[in-house]
Amino acid sequence: MPEESIRVRDNGQINVILRQQREVEVTGFNETEGEVESQKLFQDHQILMEMEEELEQFIGLKEMKKILKEIYAWVTINKQRQEVGLKTDGQMLHMLFKGNPGTGKTTMARLVGKMLFKMNVLSKGHFIEAERADLVGEYIGHTALKTRELIKKSQGGILFIDEAYSLGRGGEKDFGREAIDTIVKHVEDKQHDFIVILAGYSSEMQYFVRMNPGLASRFPIVVNFPDYTSEELLAISEKMLKDKQYKLSVNAKDIMYYHLKVICENGNKFQFSNARYVRNIIEKAIRSQSIRLLTYRNPDRNDLMTIRSIDLGI
Ligand SMILES: Nc1ncnc2c1ncn2[C@@H]1O[C@H](COP(=O)(O)OP(=O)(O)OP(=O)(O)O)[C@@H](O)[C@H]1O
Ligand SMILES: [Mg+2]
Repeated sequence: MPEESIRVRDNGQINVILRQQREVEVTGFNETEGEVESQKLFQDHQILMEMEEELEQFIGLKEMKKILKEIYAWVTINKQRQEVGLKTDGQMLHMLFKGNPGTGKTTMARLVGKMLFKMNVLSKGHFIEAERADLVGEYIGHTALKTRELIKKSQGGILFIDEAYSLGRGGEKDFGREAIDTIVKHVEDKQHDFIVILAGYSSEMQYFVRMNPGLASRFPIVVNFPDYTSEELLAISEKMLKDKQYKLSVNAKDIMYYHLKVICENGNKFQFSNARYVRNIIEKAIRSQSIRLLTYRNPDRNDLMTIRSIDLGI
């Protein structure tokens, strides 16, 4: 097995260079923009390489990428500490994801499950997505039962609760409170083979966390998912098209960029769904392109791949 040299750049990207030497250098994980620190590790970083490759598929998401690398480093070093007989305290890996629609929260939560499974932190790595209706029951005691059932199903994987703030919406008498209490109780009991990720809009999540004094300390990893910039959204659209073996014509790219720029600068943030909005444009454009190509006698490979401005419908 060849060794690798791993370098974390200032932009958070990790470079892995295969080499003959036994010694592996890991640079980075600096908390601020300050100086990077170097440390020597001796091990196989296959999982990190795979993780890096997978993360590179996603545009932006700097904070999430950094946290996943921190978790990787923590797990790896903990294993080494164990080998030399040092204490290895379990860290709470429950997370809070804050961000607007379409900023990648669900996609990243799935990836967290997959990666923590590869790192042996979770025994199954499966992903259960729940919302208020899956947790909250109709009579006293029903909610705790429903929530416990879901927690049981999530053992070994991720329990992802979208729009978590809706659990706290109904005030003191609402059964949502019971769901929160049950979650708070269980996240501590079963912290080692089960990760809860609570997601929602930033402002509402901030309010939600303040509602239960136990929440903040039990969900120590808070990840912000900012709105994408127009440049990032354009890059996402090109990536989505490339994955499907399509591309934008030069003109279509200009129009797409201009459209995204106008929306990012003037659009209603609450109605705009970031990468999902882009996905919808792309899917519609592909259908329009197909209709247009029906009128061609013999479309060539380039015709079949190219989305023109007329197909975009924006
Ligand atoms: N950085 C990215 N690069 C490429 N594709 C992305 C990126 N972020 C999101 N997407 C794509 O955009 C779509 C929406 O993402 P996702 O469902 O994860 O958003 P979300 O934050 O969970 O939204 P919501 O709050 O509405 O549930 C998905 O198809 C996802 O693959
Ligand atoms: Mg989602």
